[in-house]
Order: sequence, then C-alpha cells, then structure tokens
Amino acid sequence: MIASAPGKVIIFGEHSVVYGKHAVVSSISKRCYVKAEKHSDFVISSQFGRTKLDFSGKHSYISYAIKRFSEVKKINGAKIIVNSEIPPDSGLGSSAAVTVATLTALNAEFEAGLSSEQIFELAKAVEIDVQGIASGIDPFICTYGGNWVLPEKRRFETNIEFGLIESGESSVTAEMVKRVAELRKRYPNIVNKILDTMDYIAIEGAYALEKNDVKHVETLFKINQSLLRALGVSTPNIDRIIADLEKKGYAAKITGAGGGGMILTTGCGDKIEVGGDGVRIEDN
Ligand code: PMV
Repeated sequence: MIASAPGKVIIFGEHSVVYGKHAVVSSISKRCYVKAEKHSDFVISSQFGRTKLDFSGKHSYISYAIKRFSEVKKINGAKIIVNSEIPPDSGLGSSAAVTVATLTALNAEFEAGLSSEQIFELAKAVEIDVQGIASGIDPFICTYGGNWVLPEKRRFETNIEFGLIESGESSVTAEMVKRVAELRKRYPNIVNKILDTMDYIAIEGAYALEKNDVKHVETLFKINQSLLRALGVSTPNIDRIIADLEKKGYAAKITGAGGGGMILTTGCGDKIEVGGDGVRIEDN
C-alpha cells in the first residue's frame, strides 16, 4: 500500500508551541510517499540508502514508526520504500511526513484499522522517541492537512501567498529545541516574556491570515523573526538574507526549528500552496 503525507510550514509559533503557546500551521503541496509491503524481514529504502531497522541513523523515524506500529499489531517484517518531495532538515516537516505516511501505509497493508487520531498519537510518540522534546505540531498537520490554529484546533482558510527561500544551511530540530530550553532555564523571566509575546503574535497572525491582510502579516513576520533571533535560532546567514529581503520591501521569517532550513516569505521565493490534504492512501 502507498500512503502520502504533506510537508508543512509553521507560519507563527515555532518554539513557543513547545511551551503550550498558540501556533499557526499549514500543510504544503510537497508530499512524502511511502510504500509498505509484507516481507520476511525489515527493509527500509529511501534517498539515504537501504537499511534494516536503523534506530539511530538516517531511518530513525521510520524504524520507530515500525516499532510503535508493531506494539499495536505485531509484524515480523515489512519492506518500506520512501519517495519524498520534501527536502530533509529544512523545517518543512519531512520527518513527521515520513512517520505519518509510514504508519498509514502499514495500517492499510496489515489491516490494523487505526483511526487518524490513533495514527497521530503514534506519530507523536515516534517524534518523542527520536527527539526527546516535541510539541506534536508536525505529526498533527501531516495527519490532518489544512490551515490550523493550535492548541484549540481551529481550522481556517487564507488566500495569502507564501514563498520559500533556501538558507543553504541545515535545520537541526532537536539541537534548536534544546538551545531554547537551556536559554529559558538560565533566563526564565526574559525567555518566558518572549514566548508570551510569540503567543500573542500567533493569535493576531491567525486573524490577519483569515482576513487576507498581507500588511498585518508582514509586520508580525518581522516581529516574530526578531524574537526567534533573540532565542538564538537564527543564523548570521539567515539574518543577512532576511535583511536583504526587507530592503526590497518583503517580510520573511524562519519556519520550523531554525539554525538553517527554509525561510518563509510573503510575495517572493518559490511559491507554495498551503492548506492541502493531510495523509491519504494513494491509488496502488
Ligand atoms: O521540525 P521542525 O523544524 O519543523 O520544527 C518543529 C517546531 C518546533 O516548535 C521548533 C519544535 C516542536 O516540536 O514544536
């Protein structure tokens, strides 16, 4: 069976969402396709090569997805073949997409009868198995698709057009999440205020998006990016790219964990479509 799950962009609220604050997140049209087949052994094949279960290497998310699935429905082997359009380590949710698509393909192939909610819960557990700390925002959007305000799970529509620009550096989620946690431990009063401000930005941002108010979204992008920089998750290179864009009249921010990865913009870069389907079974 083949399942596909979308990548995502966090429009507002990366990092602060880990501390229970609001976030605005959308699925994107780039997808990850996973084929699961019954097999005598476990084999995983992707752009990173061919391995057996590989809990600490490039196939960690898939390996933990198989382990978690096996706790629900015992399997002794499966062949997993991945074809992904989502660039890895870019903040676009490639890890969550491959996890959710693997669980969904296994669910269909082995007729385990899991609901979307159960797939989401298993994917969240896998993210924590691999990363340690995680808010669950990526597995959520890869499962359900659309545009959402979290934690209240309010779905909305927007016509605002977004673009992506590559920073040329890799985003390392676990390291960035740890960096913010350490800064918060050292300066709780300061960092908690930043996270609270990000909370208001996400709430305001959701309304600006719903009203298709680009100017308002752009102002909030600039404030949000400054605060992400204050948390230490931007880089000198990203700061330069964003300063250049701002000189040209655009607004831009990190999307996802930062430290590299994609820069989200309004009005320039590679245009992306937001709000498409969540995980689905493809014609086999
Ligand atoms: O994995 P990324 O780069 O899309 O980042 C996820 C967003 C964070 O808020 C940084 C972490 C989390 O678990 O919410």
